[in-house]
Amino acid sequence: MTTTFFFLLITILLHSSCHTLTVADDFVRPVDRSLLGLNKEEKVSHFKFYWHDTLSGRNPSSVPVIPPTNKVNTTTLFGLVNMLDNPLTLGPTLSSKLIGRAQGFYASTGQTEVDLLMAMNFVFVDEKYNGSSITILGRNPIFNKTRELAVIGGSGVFRFARGYAQLKTYSVDLKTLDAIVEYNVFVIHY
Ligand SMILES: *[C@@H]1O[C@H](CO)[C@@H](O)[C@H](O)[C@H]1NC(C)=O
Ligand SMILES: *[C@@H]1O[C@H](CO)[C@@H](O)[C@H](O)[C@H]1NC(C)=O
Ligand SMILES: *[C@@H]1O[C@H](CO)[C@@H](O)[C@H](O)[C@H]1NC(C)=O
Repeated sequence: MTTTFFFLLITILLHSSCHTLTVADDFVRPVDRSLLGLNKEEKVSHFKFYWHDTLSGRNPSSVPVIPPTNKVNTTTLFGLVNMLDNPLTLGPTLSSKLIGRAQGFYASTGQTEVDLLMAMNFVFVDEKYNGSSITILGRNPIFNKTRELAVIGGSGVFRFARGYAQLKTYSVDLKTLDAIVEYNVFVIHY
């Protein structure tokens, strides 16, 4: 009688502890680094290209979707949000070789100077980078000579990527606000 009881008790305990283990196992488990290609040495790559923010014309690549707020009195377009799908080219002219696209938005977040919050995915179309993307996030005080944004991750060949982008305005049309910006991106990736 007692033996049967203990046998039952142990079975129940074992069963429930097995059950918890299985649930935990399904949720998270360690993975061998080599299965994810993390046993390779990291590379550092320098990408240089031009970002074309075209607001004018019949086919703008960058479009205001939220106007600046009128609740505060500033000259910085505070509150503006622009959605963009901008071409990235090898040279500074729009007709130069397309190497990818910048998809995302910028938002005016400064009340005393023009500072943009930039949130973009750069998706490349060139050969081994085709379809791979890096994600860019950062602060862009557009009137400064050089600005720096963070590379916070990526996909495809850029899995586990990190780094930064340096921005320099190449040209800006003060009437249309169309701008061409040189990007130098330094990325650590596998
Ligand atoms: C905004 O600021 C300007 C310049 O300081 C001032 O002339 C104007 O009255 C202000 N407008 C409002 C709505 O506060
Ligand atoms: C990039 O990939 C797309 C489909 O994913 C394909 O249509 C295109 O030809 C590729 N481009 C290059 C340059 O390999
Ligand atoms: C931007 O430029 C101003 C003045 O030229 C300088 O004081 C400031 O430190 C710069 N900011 C950044 C983030 O580079």
